[in-house]
Amino acid sequence: MLKIAVQKSGRLYDESLTLLKSCGLYVDNGMDQLKAEVRGFPAEVYFLRNSDIPQYLEDGVVDIAIIGENVLYEQKVGVEVLVKLGFSKCRLSIAVPKNMHYDGIESLHGKKIATSYPNSVQKFLDEAGVLAEIHIISGSVEIAPNIGLADAICDLVSSGSTLFKNGLEEKEIILKSESCLAANVASLNTKRDIINDLVFRIESVLKARDNRYILFNIPNEKIAEASAVLPVLKSPTVLPLIDEGWSSLHSVINVKDFWDVIKNLKKIGAQGILVVPVENMVV
Ligand code: PRP
Repeated sequence: MLKIAVQKSGRLYDESLTLLKSCGLYVDNGMDQLKAEVRGFPAEVYFLRNSDIPQYLEDGVVDIAIIGENVLYEQKVGVEVLVKLGFSKCRLSIAVPKNMHYDGIESLHGKKIATSYPNSVQKFLDEAGVLAEIHIISGSVEIAPNIGLADAICDLVSSGSTLFKNGLEEKEIILKSESCLAANVASLNTKRDIINDLVFRIESVLKARDNRYILFNIPNEKIAEASAVLPVLKSPTVLPLIDEGWSSLHSVINVKDFWDVIKNLKKIGAQGILVVPVENMVV
């Protein structure tokens, strides 16, 4: 039985459960349950406080966790990151009030910085050789300069709207972070097969999210030209149509190439272009 930790509440919660579901792990999570059964996979899910997860993971209370890289970086735990999951992307940044004179990191010398990430900030300041006072607060960090509690702050920035609303400007990026799947080191041996199975499923779901299945009809004499505009993994599948002289081409394309491919296919006379999301992709 694989023990998986998921954030109890917060930004990672919804996407974590969506990802597990896409991987065939159906979590029966009644409200306020600490532990939930999983259908479709030999696992159980533990809903834990974000900041508690790294320690539980290092201690082996859970085998695997979906967690932000920023929390692992802050707590410096000995766990292994297996896959970056691509959601909850953010930056851990230092920000100062708009009207504060800022000439680079030296401007923080002697200043008071409010943060919930004291270790990350300290490391950053040490590396830059800057002496500043760190004031630890656990929430609503961005308000600290406005109420005279600090000169600057260090917190997570995603859209930047919280900084903007509080009259702050992002000045230094300490870390770029996203959600990841991390594992307890011992569990990687003792539960290798089941962890590999989960990683395989996750990777196939992530790959699928970036790809689309495309099919269209094309006159036979244009098949070579159409194939050339498809940045495919392998040659496209060609199926003859009942209409004489026409074929149907099937392929998989990356979303980043999507609009260019469509434009070029239209140019060479493709018809009935159909694009379908891919749910799982094993290549
Ligand atoms: C985080 C972070 C910032 C905010 C930044 O808080 O602490 O306050 O998001 O996001 P933005 O750049 O898109 O405005 P969150 O809402 O996740 O809650 P928290 O205070 O519990 O960390």
